[in-house]
Amino acid sequence: MIGVVLISGSGSNLQSLIDHSKNINLKISCVISNNPNAYGLERAKKANIETKILDHNEFSSRESYDNSLKEIIEKFNPEVIILAGFMRILTANFVNHFLGKVLNIHPSLLPKYPGLHTHQRALDAGDKVHGVSVHFVTPELDGGPIIAQKQIEVYSRDDANSLAKRLLKEEHIIYPKVVQWFTEGRLTLKDNEAYLDKKLICLD
Ligand code: GAR
Repeated sequence: MIGVVLISGSGSNLQSLIDHSKNINLKISCVISNNPNAYGLERAKKANIETKILDHNEFSSRESYDNSLKEIIEKFNPEVIILAGFMRILTANFVNHFLGKVLNIHPSLLPKYPGLHTHQRALDAGDKVHGVSVHFVTPELDGGPIIAQKQIEVYSRDDANSLAKRLLKEEHIIYPKVVQWFTEGRLTLKDNEAYLDKKLICLD
């Protein structure tokens, strides 16, 4: 299945998808970054994947940025759009255009801690567990139906960095797994709910 991956930074989740791509039947046809200095762009080039930079600083509005992003993505005609550390809020127009095809990974146990600084927020709240969520992207920020989560224990010695590092290891496992479900046609979004093998995904 042809996919496009959107990044903003290090791209370690992108790397994990690249490493698993053969086994999960994913052909990444382009990696797009809003950040010209994202290290993930180097990872893509090393894997011979086409890269595009769409710098948000060159746009005067979110709408115009997302329109250009949409145009670039459509050139590749992807069946899946994978957000892998893409740190931008997408407009409802963009999301609705690709609804059901956009996946995101978020470093918290959603619905806890949408947005930024999730590790610090979990520590500040004294949480004993933290985790990662993979979800379908809908217009509500980090609010789309959850597909899968993985919990990790929070240790008393943890700081935001150690927590982020430990969680990333889990991200690198869970994201290819979910993408594989999608490429196998087992995962669908219907009426704002996620289904695996036609069964509603219920996480609690
Ligand atoms: C990951 O922890 C990912 O879950 C998070 O950004 C990091 C990107 O790391 N995404 C978000 O916070 C999205 N709201 P990476 O560039 O090494 O994959």
